[in-house]
Amino acid sequence: MITKQQMIQTLLPKPALPVKEQATAFSPANIALIKYWGKRDNELNLPVTSSLSMSLAHGTHTTVKVASADSCLLNGKECPPAFAKRLFDYCNLFRNKDTFFEIHTTNEIPTAAGFASSSSGFSALILALDDLFGWHADLKTLSILARLGSGSACRSLFSGFVEWHKGTRPDGLDSFAEPLNTSWPELQIEMLPISSSQKPIDSRSAMKITVETSPLYSSWPQTVANDLPRIKEAINSQNFHQLGQIAESNALAMHATMLASHPPILYFLPESIATMHHIWRLRNEGLPLYFTMDAGPNLKLLYLKKDSTLVHEALGL
Ligand code: DP6
Repeated sequence: MITKQQMIQTLLPKPALPVKEQATAFSPANIALIKYWGKRDNELNLPVTSSLSMSLAHGTHTTVKVASADSCLLNGKECPPAFAKRLFDYCNLFRNKDTFFEIHTTNEIPTAAGFASSSSGFSALILALDDLFGWHADLKTLSILARLGSGSACRSLFSGFVEWHKGTRPDGLDSFAEPLNTSWPELQIEMLPISSSQKPIDSRSAMKITVETSPLYSSWPQTVANDLPRIKEAINSQNFHQLGQIAESNALAMHATMLASHPPILYFLPESIATMHHIWRLRNEGLPLYFTMDAGPNLKLLYLKKDSTLVHEALGL
């Protein structure tokens, strides 16, 4: 097995000493339209399938300051210990043992409620570290490094539509994200909060349990292999119904694989299901509205800008 350290040595110069006192960076959160669910390598966060996301306008701002001891503030308050450990374990991959950081990170969207904040978090952190250490690494390299913090973070280095190529190499050097060459300003993705409470199981553990125990997981790579080229075609031709249908069914297929695992994993709350029924009813009545959903109870709406008022009225937003 290749370790993170071994992989990093091939990408970054040594020794890793900060070249400035502090650095700040921003990364957008991203929402997958074709989901990443399952790893072929848990150490390097190498995915079983490719995935495709859309970056949001909002995300995470992170400042890393050289300090005399490690400390971390999340949204102005002391970081929960598990979160701080994850951040500093990640920083340890890049610094020597005498370098300590004060990290201030601000999420514009709720953390750990399925709102994809770890994606923008690790992306903003690697951008800040790149500046602090003066690596001047290219975005492909930074995408690979962000992936080591959290898989979906590799897509947050870019705006617009982004594809994460799964890659096939055991060292993961061909597993990185890249923006698509297409923009679609009419397409809207909007958070529909259902609950901001902490989810019952984090996505990393849930993904692992699904891969190891779900009899439905074997169908997942084929689902993605079918969905990915078709959603890219929908994006290129700006075919909203095709995009919405594929994104929605891809998300539900991901949740179906989790449901069949043991212990079963179910992120839906009663309100999530009621809202899905509401969306399907509105769609049957002619409103072009779809949703996607990640490892949490919240929904993300997909619609076109021209229908914004109708969507908001229909859902009481
Ligand atoms: C459902 O990127 O949080 O949001 O690689 O273990 O950190 P780790 O997982 P993470 O998983 C995201 C899962 C998802 C789908 C997606 O964003 O593609």
